Amino acid sequence: MAIERIVNTSGKDDPVEEELQQTLRPRDFKSYIGQERLKSNLRLTIGAAQKRGEPIDHILLHGPPGLGKTTMASVIANEMGAQMRITSGPAIERAGDLASLLTNLADGDILFIDEIHRLHRVVEEVLYSAMEDFKLDIMLGKGPSARSLRLDLPKFTIIGATTRTGALAAPLRDRFGMIHRLEFYTPEEVAKIIRRSATILKVPIDTEAATLLAGRARLTPRIANRLLKRVRDYADMNGDGTIDSKLAITALGLLEIDELGLDPADRHLLRAIIEHHDGGPVGVETLAALTAEERSTIEDFYEPYLMQIGLLERTPRGRKVTPRAWKHLGKTPSAKAQASLL
Ligand SMILES: Nc1ncnc2c1ncn2[C@@H]1O[C@H](COP(=O)(O)OP(=O)(O)OP(=O)(O)O)[C@@H](O)[C@H]1O
Ligand SMILES: [Mg+2]
Repeated sequence: MAIERIVNTSGKDDPVEEELQQTLRPRDFKSYIGQERLKSNLRLTIGAAQKRGEPIDHILLHGPPGLGKTTMASVIANEMGAQMRITSGPAIERAGDLASLLTNLADGDILFIDEIHRLHRVVEEVLYSAMEDFKLDIMLGKGPSARSLRLDLPKFTIIGATTRTGALAAPLRDRFGMIHRLEFYTPEEVAKIIRRSATILKVPIDTEAATLLAGRARLTPRIANRLLKRVRDYADMNGDGTIDSKLAITALGLLEIDELGLDPADRHLLRAIIEHHDGGPVGVETLAALTAEERSTIEDFYEPYLMQIGLLERTPRGRKVTPRAWKHLGKTPSAKAQASLL
């Protein structure tokens, strides 16, 4: 399948989309809605660091795509008044690439490493000592004449982002002073984000419609913004551009997004577990095969939300749909499935 999904939480490769998300990106704690616990921790950390005149500790942000990790990194830089450079795990190919990135930083700079779980092993090892004592060990030459050189680095801060902490080597994880998981947003927070975005984009939307969109945005800001944009397009084509709930319902219907925010691909996945495996449990590899998706796509994009809203469960023997999923798809569990659901 691997169709283009409106609820796809990634969408990094689309320039129009990227520009939209940039315009809507909050710049400070005040406009960053939700994640209150993270924000209060950070306010404390930042306040203390500024008082001491030191850079902040390295920070690792993890959680499902589209919840605001990259955004939070730039908010932190902004609140610190620090300069931020951006790179990603797979972009740093050799230890030398990392060396040149680090030696070009100034005291207090922030280096944001996206997808930090995809760092190459050799790069990762150089990063350890750099993060720990701001020294860089490099090898000059090869064979018997090789010697190692130790460089002093500026006092920088690494902010790492990953959708999967499990994939991060323990020694790397241990070098972060603060590790924080971003949580799904509440529907109320998502509605607030939608109203904020609508104001920026000058889209007239009533409260009811904002609440309705929020209920279908997978508790995820990136999707909320994307739905708003799609519904706005529909409103421009089919009315005077104003979004009320009647129009929102019609537009979402055309996009085939249901009341729980599921799109056809989600329903296909759940239906596959029900129809081919009597509701599960079924291994993630089998699911990948059934849906023609990568295993990582299932794990990163589908599962977190389906589990969050209680449609899917992870058990030691594999993935299993819940009674709520059977009901949502209008199906009655077989006698055997019913027994296993008890
Ligand atoms: N707390 C928030 N308040 C308002 N808008 C937000 C918030 N968090 C994220 N957004 C919006 O959602 C978009 C996606 O957020 P962001 O790119 O930071 O997610 P991410 O966690 O880095 O995702 P990925 O894992 O795919 O890199 C941003 O462009 C921003 O407009
Ligand atoms: Mg990001």
